[in-house]
Amino acid sequence: MRRVTSGLVIIAAAAALAACGQPAAPEGEASASAGETAKAAAPAATLSPAKAALLASLPAPYNTGDLANGQKQFQLCRSCHTITEGGANMTGPNLYGLFGRTAGTVEKFRYSEPLKAAGFAWDAAKLDQWLADPRGFLPGNRMSFMGVKDAKDRTDLIAYLKVETGYKPGG
Ligand code: HEC
Repeated sequence: MRRVTSGLVIIAAAAALAACGQPAAPEGEASASAGETAKAAAPAATLSPAKAALLASLPAPYNTGDLANGQKQFQLCRSCHTITEGGANMTGPNLYGLFGRTAGTVEKFRYSEPLKAAGFAWDAAKLDQWLADPRGFLPGNRMSFMGVKDAKDRTDLIAYLKVETGYKPGG
């Protein structure tokens, strides 16, 4: 009887070890059940230290921008714009390096006359006005997009663009 019991113990121990040999599933479940706080913190947690520092260095209200919402808002733009370095021009020009760049100057992109002649450099304030009402801000431009009407959505989108398009503080 005693032998049988110890045999069972060994089997149980082996089973436990086997379970430990598959670490991902039990651990994943444990952290998922750790709760809502972990979920809420997720976007910040996935941000690289450099991007988190850049976000924090932005002037208010952009320093507290919700990058997850900004990324969501960018879904409205991505059919026409890339934001990565060296990204293609599509219907709209590549937006990498946008901040501080003179409007209408991405190489090989054929802008409308009003945007070519605009003559200002893009900053958060200009972009906010452009995105609120593309037509009204610069009549005659060719970006057929109705705009982002909610001010907080624009703030989050601009914060996201600053972090993702190679913006340099003070530049
Ligand atoms: C239907 C396609 C389309 C969508 C959607 C769109 N854009 Fe554009 N965008 C354009 C075009 C075309 C231009 C060039 C307009 C011109 O030459 O008059 C442009 C120009 C711009 C410019 C000026 C770039 C420069 O080099 O001066 C910015 C900034 C911009 N878009 C941002 C955005 C953002 C941010 C969104 C999403 C909220 C967005 N666009 C959505 C087509 C689009």
